[in-house]
Amino acid sequence: MLKRFSSYFAQSMMQSKLKEALKIQRLDAPVTYGVDASKPYLLYMHVPFCHDFCPFCSFHKFKYDALNAKSYFRSLREELFILKRLGFSFDRLYIGGGTPFVDPKELFQTIRVAKELFDIKEVSCESSPASIDRERVYEAKGLIDRLSIGVQTFDDTLLKRMGRYERYGSSKELQRKIESLQGILPTISLDLIFNFPAQSEAMLREDLRIAKALGSEQITTYPLMRSSLMKESIKNTFGEDEGIKEWMLYQAIRDEMSEYNLNNAWAFAKEKSALSDEYVVHYPEYVGVGSGAFSAFNDRLYVNAYSLSEYLQCIKDRRHAIIAQTPVFSPKQQVQYAFLLELFSRSLDMERFNARFGICVEKMFSIELWWLESNHAIRKEGGVIYTTLFGDYLCATMMKTFYSGMDLVRAYLSKTFYQNAS
Ligand SMILES: C[S@@+](CC[C@H](N)C(=O)[O-])C[C@H]1O[C@@H](n2cnc3c(N)ncnc32)[C@H](O)[C@@H]1O
Ligand code: SF4
Repeated sequence: MLKRFSSYFAQSMMQSKLKEALKIQRLDAPVTYGVDASKPYLLYMHVPFCHDFCPFCSFHKFKYDALNAKSYFRSLREELFILKRLGFSFDRLYIGGGTPFVDPKELFQTIRVAKELFDIKEVSCESSPASIDRERVYEAKGLIDRLSIGVQTFDDTLLKRMGRYERYGSSKELQRKIESLQGILPTISLDLIFNFPAQSEAMLREDLRIAKALGSEQITTYPLMRSSLMKESIKNTFGEDEGIKEWMLYQAIRDEMSEYNLNNAWAFAKEKSALSDEYVVHYPEYVGVGSGAFSAFNDRLYVNAYSLSEYLQCIKDRRHAIIAQTPVFSPKQQVQYAFLLELFSRSLDMERFNARFGICVEKMFSIELWWLESNHAIRKEGGVIYTTLFGDYLCATMMKTFYSGMDLVRAYLSKTFYQNAS
């Protein structure tokens, strides 16, 4: 009960901080910003097409259409040239969606262009299980280093409920497919979601056992995010929220995954790795290309054009597709954000943190640290703050709230400016 209260408290604190920080303003003129040419940023590329929509997913997307997708990929490549001319340099590329593999030829061509223009050392790409097979993954050899496959669950009842059983195959078919993809690329990562209403601890443990047996290098276990945009759809598909289950399920995950390393509170890896789905953790500054992509640099958040037509027009006009931004985050907000990200990564070196921001973390966060310590969520040792199992859970719920907060931006943009975004 106390744990549940602490988690609600942490999430509501996070929500109010996000509301304060994410005050999106639409720009009436093309964006202007300075670029630090000496700094390699992470490049995020958004591919917003899906053949069908899943009832839990609020990511920015459109129904797949072959012609639209082709002209979209052409524009993505153009946008890369625009960023090159603006002076950006990138060393890592993360491709998310939607479904980046909707058109593999176009996707591969776009990665090649990114690699020709920038000194990109690693490429991570999301995929739905339906859009890949052994042949396609072989073609991606040398282009993609890490493939993150959205499995969500291996439970047939849940797969049926979310409509993925018919579209992407049964649990057994998914397992056979994933097995056939192992060993081609350096890293295969599986995305699972936990805490679906109607998902029992036994079902989740079985998901994890299957995922481990498939030999994947990385496994990410997302807590189900119920943002304002998806609440109704999740309720109608899976039933009412059973808030009490989440902590119990998180403990089961940690128990099942004990032989893996934790990259952060919800990402498990056989080897510790900088390349995970939480690129925002390792790369607080990233630049987004594509419709609806976010960028974070120069201490603010930027958003690219949401509608396809506006995005394509921006690129035709040869300008970065940013159409909205937040105010510059205050120094306090920047430190708070870094504090969350470090704890989400499970340790915070106080001396390093103090030197980075010119503050005293123990003074600035005295109340938060007292609260976390009294809840047995952190412990201090040798100048480092470490999260405990419960601390990891709290950070996972706060990150969940942070990601759901991005939906505030999506909801605001689609309501205020567009009717045709997803
Ligand atoms: C943007 S999706 C792209 C994945 C790919 N299109 C697919 O369907 O497999 C990336 C991941 O976000 C996670 N995700 C999406 N909606 C979520 C939600 N409401 N709660 C938790 N995780 C979610 C899923 O695990 C998904 O695999
Ligand atoms: S989970 Fe993947 S396939 Fe499903 S709607 Fe989201 S992006 Fe599309």
